[in-house]
Amino acid sequence: MPTEVLSTHTAAAFRVAVRRAAGLLRAGQVVALPTETVYGLAANALDARAVGRIYEVKGRPAHNPIIVHVASLEMARRCVARWPELAGKLARAFWPGPLTLVLPRASQIPDIVTAGGPTVGVRWPSHPFIQAVIRECGFPLAAPSANLSSRLSPTTAEYVRVQLGRAIPLIVDGGPCQVGIESTVLDLAAAPPRVLRPGMIHAASLAAVMEEVPSPESGVRNPEAALRSPGLLPKHYAPKARLVVRGWRNDAELKAHISTLGFDSDAAHVIAHSRIPSGAGLGSVSLIPHDPEAFARAIYAELHRCDEAGAGLIVVEALPETAEWRAVADRLERAAAP
Ligand code: TXA
Ligand code: MG
Repeated sequence: MPTEVLSTHTAAAFRVAVRRAAGLLRAGQVVALPTETVYGLAANALDARAVGRIYEVKGRPAHNPIIVHVASLEMARRCVARWPELAGKLARAFWPGPLTLVLPRASQIPDIVTAGGPTVGVRWPSHPFIQAVIRECGFPLAAPSANLSSRLSPTTAEYVRVQLGRAIPLIVDGGPCQVGIESTVLDLAAAPPRVLRPGMIHAASLAAVMEEVPSPESGVRNPEAALRSPGLLPKHYAPKARLVVRGWRNDAELKAHISTLGFDSDAAHVIAHSRIPSGAGLGSVSLIPHDPEAFARAIYAELHRCDEAGAGLIVVEALPETAEWRAVADRLERAAAP
């Protein structure tokens, strides 16, 4: 069955795509939809069988819970057993947007969504298309990133098609994702609250609203806490090529890194933001502006492009160690994990 791809570039096309997506979702199917972070593979969050399809299509391990997407505060509150004042404050500050709040689950949320756990991750995305679909459906949508498990999240409809085409009936093209990496996941069921996955809403922004600094993040830097959020284990978000993060002062130093790793220069694809290599002898050189927002928006598409070009090695120029760069640095650490 060939996958249908619908565009949303005119008001009429947008309406047609909303109706088609909502029709399939009501019938218990899964569809790939744009969000502002990355494309999501959506199903009716209240339909355990439909959510089961998500796990099948992605090859996702059953112990990894799925984020529930809503389009209003009332809908968010119906997904959770408790809505603390802090959740209200954070929602006012950052929703709709790239922040997922983990809270005690409501009984209407099936086990399969939470992987049997006591909490549910809830997010109100800002992309107008998924908002329109949720409103049309009237139920929340469970949606992980629309990639095969442990592969790169797609930031364009085309990269969804490359990974999941034929396995799903519909991909809606809402253009390239504006944020480009996955949402910040904040665990409000933990005391004190803790960042389970860093994202473009970084710890300093959260702290300004929370009037307390959230606990240090989990994952690569804190394996114990990663068990609370299995998607945060290392080796996630990985391209097919080997990926390393390195600094260099000049072309010679970059080439020395490549040969130390045992690769020919022409198999090495370089992603730089500050020290731009000449490109001579390298597989390719791409530039992303030295700006964390621009970097987040572009990085997954660049990694996908390197894979398509048959890269053996991807060398990403080392990033600054400041808070605004933390989320992209986290994704690169995971992609580089052995
Ligand atoms: O930006 C995003 O969050 C995208 C778009 C589609 O919304 N979604 C996304 O979903 O990245 P996924 O499944 O690829 O990553 C969700 C992460 C996983 O690491 C999962 O373990 C964690 O959030 N997570 C989900 N529900 C959780 C829960 N109840 N407790 C702890 N971690 C949870
Ligand atoms: Mg994912």
